[in-house]
Amino acid sequence: MNNVLKVNPNFPQRVHIQKAATLLRQGGLVAFPTETVYGLGADALDPKAVARIFAAKQRPNWDPLIVHVRDLAMARSLAKTLPATFETLAEKFWPGPLTMVVEKSERVPDEVTAGRPSVAMRMPRHPVASLLLAETGLPIAAPSANKFGRPSPTRAEHVVDDLGSSVDLILDAGPTLLGVESTVLDLTQSPPAILRPGGVTREELEAVIGPVTVAPSVADEIAEKGLASPGMSQQHYAPVARVELFEGAMDDIANRMLARAIDLRNRGHRTGAIICDEMMPLLDKTTEFVSSFGKWGQWDRYAKRLFAAFRVLDSQGVVIILCLLPPAEGIGLAVRDRLQRAAGSPRLPRSERGEERGKS
Ligand code: TXA
Ligand code: MG
Repeated sequence: MNNVLKVNPNFPQRVHIQKAATLLRQGGLVAFPTETVYGLGADALDPKAVARIFAAKQRPNWDPLIVHVRDLAMARSLAKTLPATFETLAEKFWPGPLTMVVEKSERVPDEVTAGRPSVAMRMPRHPVASLLLAETGLPIAAPSANKFGRPSPTRAEHVVDDLGSSVDLILDAGPTLLGVESTVLDLTQSPPAILRPGGVTREELEAVIGPVTVAPSVADEIAEKGLASPGMSQQHYAPVARVELFEGAMDDIANRMLARAIDLRNRGHRTGAIICDEMMPLLDKTTEFVSSFGKWGQWDRYAKRLFAAFRVLDSQGVVIILCLLPPAEGIGLAVRDRLQRAAGSPRLPRSERGEERGKS
């Protein structure tokens, strides 16, 4: 594709950054890497440019965007007031994978926040994203650069596959570091609430500001309690294949997965699995398409590889993916959340889940 520019991830070429900045100033769409996933960026203060993001992603207009900022001063200019916890957390975790939701100022167009009185902001750590923010001097609205409902892109190729020519420029700096999105923390509630677990863990946040809650949408009760964050639709981050989750002790998971894999094979279903190294000897003979993220407990590696594994298994044409579900601690909470969303609500009947799939 001729809209893809290779950029050095550590020392981004200035000319490439300038080209991207010019496009953004003109109301264009630029996909760029952050430390979490690739974002689809536009000038956050330009409602027309922001509308193009929604069109390209086929994102429903009720789902608000994250605004990426260069520094605290820019964040201040987009908020009505910044609570003290905002500054404390920014000091500790910015630049980095923490998004904070606060009351918005009038400068932020309603198109960005989907008409909500609050705005979500973060300062990314990736050199390409930082330089782009510095070069444009603009706040950049950027959701993950995937089609709505699909796994977030952790490589530029994923952006090309999902969005292709609807983007003016794709800055390709190779795979992203973390692989799951930022933590979205709502500071308009007290205590603050994690609306989406991500790169900064609950434990890390609590060490700095004390107790935070985890919104029920993230827990195992999605169907029961409704959606706390507008972006938290039930089936999200999903591969085309059906996702089945296995939770528990390692050996127990391996045995149950093996039984399921044999059953599926006997019925002629092309099956994939995402597991850890220790399970390989047991599963790689029965399952055609296995992918291991690393050793049991290396949940950061799971986070980094999950979305790419979904896309690879889809391209291999599997109809079902058996996945290890990590415990709800550290970065495991974010991986768990993405897996549960990919599987859809466990309370939805299977027939309904099948119908939802493939829509986006
Ligand atoms: O790591 C990330 O956060 C990536 C990179 C590109 O920065 N971005 C990202 O954006 O994941 P997106 O749009 O895919 O997810 C943003 C999430 C959505 O769940 C959305 O509903 C929520 O943040 N959000 C945005 N503004 C909000 C607001 N005012 N109140 C509550 N939730 C909000
Ligand atoms: Mg997204």
